Amino acid sequence: MTLAEVRSKYLEFFKARGHTIIPSAPLVPENDPTTLFTGSGMQPLVPYLLGQPHPSGSRLVDSQKAFRSGDIEEVGDNRHTTFFEMLGNWSLGDYFKQEQLPWFFEFLTNKESGVGLDPRRLFVTAFIGDERNNVPRDTEAAEIWQRLFAELGIGNKVVDIGSEENGYVVGMQGGRIFYYDAKKNWWSRAGVPENMPVGAPGGPDSEVFYDFGTEHDPKWGAECHPNCDCGRFLEIGNSVFMQYIKNADGTFSLLPKQNVDFGGGLERIAAVSENSSDVFTVAHRSIIAQLKQSTGKEYADNIRAFRIIADHVKAAVFLISDGVRPDNKDQGYFVRRLLRRAIRALQRIEGA
Ligand code: ALA
Repeated sequence: MTLAEVRSKYLEFFKARGHTIIPSAPLVPENDPTTLFTGSGMQPLVPYLLGQPHPSGSRLVDSQKAFRSGDIEEVGDNRHTTFFEMLGNWSLGDYFKQEQLPWFFEFLTNKESGVGLDPRRLFVTAFIGDERNNVPRDTEAAEIWQRLFAELGIGNKVVDIGSEENGYVVGMQGGRIFYYDAKKNWWSRAGVPENMPVGAPGGPDSEVFYDFGTEHDPKWGAECHPNCDCGRFLEIGNSVFMQYIKNADGTFSLLPKQNVDFGGGLERIAAVSENSSDVFTVAHRSIIAQLKQSTGKEYADNIRAFRIIADHVKAAVFLISDGVRPDNKDQGYFVRRLLRRAIRALQRIEGA
C-alpha cells in the first residue's frame, strides 16, 4: 500500500469510531520554546493531555509530520528517517486500553477496514512494572493481547523479558507477548520515569512489532527478542497509556483523566503492508525512481547514498514548506546540514 492509502485508511478507520480528524501541526512548534522541531504526535497536544478541553472533542485522529534531528546520522539503514509521519489516535479522558488495543489490532490485520497484515507476524510488548515508582505491571494490556491472539487461534504465551541490564538473555521462548522494563515500555518526552521533569505526563506503553522472520544476527546479542536491533523485528506502533504526572517530590500521581496517545509509523506500516523491511523502497518509491533516472545508477549499488538523499531532500522540502530557511543556526542549520549531506551523497554516487 502507498503512504496515501495507509494514511486515509487509518483516518477513516478512527473517524468511523467517533474520532474527529485534526490537521497536522507544523514542524516548527508554535507554542513550545523547549524544542526546535515537532518530533512526535503528542507534542502539539500536551496541554490537552494534561486536562485542557480540546475544541474538537475527546477522540482525535491525525497524521502528524515529525522531524527528529537526533536521527540524522542513523539514516542509511533500512528504517531510520529524520522525517516521517506519525499516525495518531487520541483519547482525552475517553476510551482506554480495552478499546485501543483491539482497534489497533483490527486496523493492522483486517483486510477491509485496515491494512490486512498476517497476525502471525505480529509480536507485542507491555510494561513489566516499576516498584520504585509504584507503577504496577500492565497485566491488563497483556491479557487483552492474549485474548486477541487466542481468538485467531494464534499462540499467546507471555514472557518476562526483563531489563537491558540482564542483556535480555531470555530470548523468544515461543512467546507472543513480552514484558519489558521502563527503558522500552514507558513513554514520556524525557524517557524513563527518573528523567521526567516535574509536571510532565507519561505512562506505560504497549508496542507492536512486525516479524520479517529473518535469522538472528548475534552481533546484536545472544538471543533475539522483539526489541532486538538485528533487523528481524520492526516496531510499527506504540499505544501509550498516558495516565501519570510527575510530582515535585519525584513520585507519580494519576492524571485527572486517563488518556491514550497512540503513535504509528506511517512509512513503516506502508512498508510492512508489502512485507518489505526496506522503508525506502515503499515510502520513498518515487524519489528513488527519480534518482535512478537522473543519475543512471541503480539503488541496489548505492543503497546508503540513495537513502540519505531520499530522506534528507524530503525532510528539507517539508521544513522549507513550513517556513524554515537554510541558515547557520536553529532550525535553519538543520536544513543547511540536510542539503549539504544530500549533495555529498549525490557526489559519491556520481564518483565526483
Ligand atoms: N508518543 C508516542 C511516541 O512518540 C506514541 O512513540
